[in-house]
Amino acid sequence: MADPAKILILNGPNLNLLGIREPGIYGRETLADIERRCARKAKALGFDITMRQSNSEGELINWIHEAVSEWSAIIINPAAYTHTSVAIMDALKLVSCPIVEVHISNVYQRETFRHHSYVSPVATGVICGFGPAGYELALEAISGLLRKKEEV
Ligand code: DQA
Repeated sequence: MADPAKILILNGPNLNLLGIREPGIYGRETLADIERRCARKAKALGFDITMRQSNSEGELINWIHEAVSEWSAIIINPAAYTHTSVAIMDALKLVSCPIVEVHISNVYQRETFRHHSYVSPVATGVICGFGPAGYELALEAISGLLRKKEEV
C-alpha cells in the first residue's frame, strides 16, 4: 500500500492563544482542540498530518520551503500575515502541491483591511467563516484534490 499523504498544517501569529483570544470571534476551542479534530479527520481520510504554529514570519516561511519537497499539501491559516505578507506569498509561489488557505472567522464580515489577502491568489482554494471546522473541510478538499491527481 502507498504511504499516507503527508499534510502540513501551518498557523500564524496569535493562533497559539485560541480559546482565550477574542472568543466572540474565534470561539472557545484551543489550537490543541483543533489539532485533535484534524487528527481524527486525517485518520478517517488516511493522511499523516503535522500541525505547527509560529508568531514569526520567517519561521513560517522556512516551514513553507519544506513543502517544496516534503509535503503533499499545505493548509495554512496565516492569521494577520494574510493581509500583510508579500514574503509568505512569495514562499507559497515556490510550492507546487495544493495549498488551502483557512480562516476561522469570516474575514469579509470584519474590518476592510481583512478583506485583502496576499495568500488567496496563490492558494488552490480558500475556506473562511466556518470556525475550527474549516480545517476539517480543508482536509476533505485536499482528499478530493489528491484523488483527482491520482486519476490523471
Ligand atoms: C484569521 C483572520 C485574520 O484576519 C486574523 O488576523 C487572525 C485570524 C482567522 O482565522 O479568522 O489572526 O486568520
